[in-house]
Amino acid sequence: MAEFHLETTVNGKSIVKNIDPSMRLLDFLRNVLHLTGTKEGCGEGECGACSVILDGELVDSCLVMAPQAHGKEVITIEGLAESGEIAPYQQAFMEVGAVQCGYCTPGMILAARVLLNNNPKPSKKEITRAISGNMCRCTGYTKIIQGVQTAASLKEAKDQQNVDIEFENLAEMDASRHAAKEGVTRE
Ligand code: FES
Ligand code: FES
Repeated sequence: MAEFHLETTVNGKSIVKNIDPSMRLLDFLRNVLHLTGTKEGCGEGECGACSVILDGELVDSCLVMAPQAHGKEVITIEGLAESGEIAPYQQAFMEVGAVQCGYCTPGMILAARVLLNNNPKPSKKEITRAISGNMCRCTGYTKIIQGVQTAASLKEAKDQQNVDIEFENLAEMDASRHAAKEGVTRE
């Protein structure tokens, strides 16, 4: 069978590989790229353990063929850390004890990320709906919902901090521009 020339972006990195066109995205991530944070549960779109983000949408990577990621951007759980720091979603899940065996956790956290990107302050009902495609055999979901609520608060605080830093940087730039202008005027 002719190979498929796949060009995609995974966690911000460009990936170019010739692959079997019948390969699932799940197998491409786990077996070719060795991103084993993406889990296989049912293999038929029922459990959400294999969830990844494809061009901003949460998908079951067991139901997506790898060629469907051509020209697109994939985010897996490994891609959430920012500058070596764990993301607010991951921190929140740890803080509230939303992780037991951890098998569902990558998918749950990616579902939370998609939700909070589109809806920064979701209600409990909206969180429940957002994670409805992700099954957890251990926690009973209460802690997971608390985890998403905590992630929303942490993310809001972090976004505010970034805005404050941006304002500080802008103020510094203004001050140096002003000082430079003063210098020119005096000369
Ligand atoms: S392994 Fe993909 S939905 Fe269960
Ligand atoms: S923590 Fe074990 S399946 Fe969710």
